[in-house]
Amino acid sequence: MPTISHATYLDQNSGAPLHPSVVEALFLFLKDHSPLLANPSSQHSEGRRARKLVTKSQEDIFRSLGIQPNSANDYAITFLSSGTDANQTAIRSSLEPFLKKGEKPHWILSPIEHPSVQAMVTWFESRGGEVSRLPISSEGQVRIEALESFIRPETRLVSVMAANNETGITSHIQSILKITQTHCIPLHTDCIALWGKSEINLLEMNPEFLCLSPYKVGGLSGLGILVHRKSAKLWNPIIGPQQGGRRGGGENLLGIFAAGIAARSIQDQIQETLKISNLRNRLEDWLVQEIPSIQINGNGPDVFRLGHVLHLTFPGYSKNLSLATQCDLEGISVSSGSACSSGAAEPSHVLLALGMNRLDALNSLRISLGLDTQWDACLKLGTALKRIISHAGSQ
Ligand SMILES: Cc1ncc(COP(=O)(O)O)c(C=O)c1O
Repeated sequence: MPTISHATYLDQNSGAPLHPSVVEALFLFLKDHSPLLANPSSQHSEGRRARKLVTKSQEDIFRSLGIQPNSANDYAITFLSSGTDANQTAIRSSLEPFLKKGEKPHWILSPIEHPSVQAMVTWFESRGGEVSRLPISSEGQVRIEALESFIRPETRLVSVMAANNETGITSHIQSILKITQTHCIPLHTDCIALWGKSEINLLEMNPEFLCLSPYKVGGLSGLGILVHRKSAKLWNPIIGPQQGGRRGGGENLLGIFAAGIAARSIQDQIQETLKISNLRNRLEDWLVQEIPSIQINGNGPDVFRLGHVLHLTFPGYSKNLSLATQCDLEGISVSSGSACSSGAAEPSHVLLALGMNRLDALNSLRISLGLDTQWDACLKLGTALKRIISHAGSQ
């Protein structure tokens, strides 16, 4: 695995390093094709070669979702600018037509969706739409059994992420689908945190929209993947003939190529995650032993937690310990899961939704391990946290 220049990088959910197979393929690709990145819409042989690359990448992405790409498949892939773009396009495609008709559509989502989804609530409500948020358990699992009672005749979309990027807790999308299907309501699922960590079977999930972001699995950033039914009419802010008119503008050929290569490694990455979970468990045990006041989030018996994520809270402090910043000063990259706006740290909306108070939420950390993580790095983090916490306790 390539080493990362930052001393200890334990924030793989923010962005994973390029997968070695992607590095190698990109190198060969650039050596072979450079400087010609032909336009896949061109009719000449170079254009056709570029088109083939795009098609091949789509096929590899489909395979990573457990289906054979063929014309009988009901799904299409549209490449967009980011995972955020994919989520927001899915939402706008579902809700905009009803808003345009002057209806008051209703949208059900979980309160732990990524900010790229949450951001659409303000847009939707300002246009007259109504939103309901599903309850979640204290472990962070969406209470699927409550969904039925939230459904109204005007419900036009249900959005539930397949795995949460902060806690690593997964949702049982098939159970949600059973309910949405009965009521003929489209389902949108953000699979960005799940891809490459646990199996995704597109046909079993059977959503209207499924979103992926390749730089979380060793591809390049600046590309989002929207998997959608062929019949879906996508909301489209960029008019042009590309991608069947679904999103104008020349395709991001290198990003798409790298995404296809990363997709080919998905099964290996899932297997690796099983090994990484041993390392995660070892770190968890070490921390529990060395810092007894620590709280491990999402490790209850009834939830499935992604194998590479460890989510911690140091409860009961009367101030923000700025744990992620302190770790950064020690050369360790982890995430507080909080957005920093206008200089003030904001607690994670996910943790607040779990019922955590503001200070405990601020004093929480997400650690996400990767294919290249070694025990040394875990120990470095554990030792730093032990020091930080013992110092905080004596203040
Ligand atoms: C679960 C989830 N959804 C959506 C996004 C947004 O993806 P992107 O950064 O490609 O816009 C992220 C990024 O961290 C994510 O973790």
